[in-house]
Amino acid sequence: MRSRSPFRQAAAKPVPLDERVSGPGAADGDFAEAVLAGLSGARKAIPSRFLYDARGSELFDEITDLPEYYPTRTEIALLQRYGAEIAAYLPEATALIEFGSGSSRKTAMLLEALRRVSHYVPIDIEASCLEQARSSLIARFPDLAVLPLIADFTDAGTLPEAVADAAKLGFFSGSTIGNLTYAEARRFLRDAAALLGPGARFLVGVDLKKPLDILLPAYNDAKGVTADFNRNLLARINRELGGDFDLSGFEHEAVYNEAEGRIEMHLVSRRAQTVELLGRRFAFAEGERIHTENSHKYTAPEVRRLAAASGWRHAAVWINDDALFSLHLLKLPD
Ligand SMILES: C[S@@+](CC[C@H](N)C(=O)[O-])C[C@H]1O[C@@H](n2cnc3c(N)ncnc32)[C@H](O)[C@@H]1O
Repeated sequence: MRSRSPFRQAAAKPVPLDERVSGPGAADGDFAEAVLAGLSGARKAIPSRFLYDARGSELFDEITDLPEYYPTRTEIALLQRYGAEIAAYLPEATALIEFGSGSSRKTAMLLEALRRVSHYVPIDIEASCLEQARSSLIARFPDLAVLPLIADFTDAGTLPEAVADAAKLGFFSGSTIGNLTYAEARRFLRDAAALLGPGARFLVGVDLKKPLDILLPAYNDAKGVTADFNRNLLARINRELGGDFDLSGFEHEAVYNEAEGRIEMHLVSRRAQTVELLGRRFAFAEGERIHTENSHKYTAPEVRRLAAASGWRHAAVWINDDALFSLHLLKLPD
């Protein structure tokens, strides 16, 4: 049996967006369970995927436009500069499967370069971003079949029948792979290989290790949008689970953990306090933390090793001039 880390809880079945009934998304079903478990441990931690409800997705999109947040504009610049070159590696691809698609803003650029793609399957845990992305992509690419799936991408299940025989390209942008530990990333890539099948290609955007004077401001922006994004998790617990978190009682903290090679986001209790939710009480000492997100940084050789350890062959890499961000093309044998 697979071991489970605090960042990996049981997920609900994937649900096509159109089959969704009202209420929280299908993949949100384990929110209560994950929060109760995460606040009960000796070190409090809540899996980072729960940062993304509708408000969290909006705040993340705001973060991507901040001057300090270099990853989005750098990855977009890579796609614009090398789109044709990337497309030359992918002459067969007809189905694009995106993991953690969010706004699908970068996807539109990829689709411009990959004109043979006829089916797009965005997979995300958060339904409202899938709905918006579908509307805007259909308006721009009227012949594209968009088949969104609400699912945890670490347990995405099966793909729609319509893409069963298509030549597949996976896309995992925004360095979302960095939210997973190395072991989780390896497992994710192995599962993605099984899901996409023989001959598949996989384009993965990975944030690179770099000096802290660039890295730290990206997660501690001057406007405080990242702090709002982090604290929205507490607001979400209050909204959805009847919690009574006082948001002003918790401070956003983003630090670099050198040993693990990752940015960690925490919410730090400003004072001793008790919080109630779902009939349970949780005590916080002054300075006690809830660990809410990891963002692992890699070197290009580390990504190559990760790919090899996960059953993928490394085909190509594109890195911007400042060596801030990288796009890796992986492939599976036919
Ligand atoms: C860092 S954002 C990246 C969004 C987009 N790919 C980009 O590059 O701008 C992560 C996205 O993955 C989604 N997400 C996070 N964890 C997830 C999970 N376990 N399963 C499915 N989607 C997840 C979030 O809802 C969000 O849209």
